[in-house]
Amino acid sequence: MTRGIFITFEGPEGCGKTTQITMLEGYLKEHGFQYHISREPGGTRISNQIRQILLNTENKEMFSKTELLLYAADRAQHTEETIKPLLKKGFVVISDRYFDSTTAYQGYGRGLDLEFVNNLNNIATGGLKPDLTVLITLSPEIGLKRAYKISEADGFPNHGDRLEQENIKFHKKVLQGYLSIAEQEEERFLIINGEKTPDEIHALIINEFKLKFKK
Ligand SMILES: Nc1ncnc2c1ncn2[C@@H]1O[C@H](COP(=O)(O)OP(=O)(O)OP(=O)(O)O)[C@@H](O)[C@H]1O
Ligand SMILES: [Mg+2]
Repeated sequence: MTRGIFITFEGPEGCGKTTQITMLEGYLKEHGFQYHISREPGGTRISNQIRQILLNTENKEMFSKTELLLYAADRAQHTEETIKPLLKKGFVVISDRYFDSTTAYQGYGRGLDLEFVNNLNNIATGGLKPDLTVLITLSPEIGLKRAYKISEADGFPNHGDRLEQENIKFHKKVLQGYLSIAEQEEERFLIINGEKTPDEIHALIINEFKLKFKK
């Protein structure tokens, strides 16, 4: 079976994931790679509908368990419909967030049982793991400031979307969670300090890409 390359981007809100994915896309295009870029939540038509529920500021009564299952539902659809078929065709598939987000936010952040979260991640993805996960770290103070700016432009004046409204303490737990996950799977992760410039971060990512995939 021909097999593409599966890369995920992780990190707190505003750390620069989307910025770096766009820059990586430029590189892939320039070098003639077949690639596909998607995001979670919302990588497919059905996932986009789930995304609307998850990010709607009015859904304040949502339980953590409901949120966890919606993310898992989104991921199951995204993995089966988009990621697996494209990897089979040899594409470079990039996802803006994947299961590490669930482990960091719902597991470490909201304190849901980690074993349960990991099992659910496995069920949703059928065990499909990224070949490379770029984790961009950033303190919640800086990250949220960046994220709020974006949300204002998107039409959420003065406050971010539902997740962004969570407190700084929560985001600190998320960041620690990400670092714990990366510690357990060092081989899969490239950890970059998000306070570096976009160009510096991009260069580190390209370097790792070339090293890891010999392209
Ligand atoms: N390395 C950087 N240094 C300073 N500012 C940056 C850097 N990377 C991105 N930014 C800016 O920070 C803001 C957030 O960046 P971006 O949207 O890429 O983050 P994100 O991780 O995708 O956020 P979200 O999780 O909310 O989608 C944008 O205004 C972007 O221009
Ligand atoms: Mg983004």
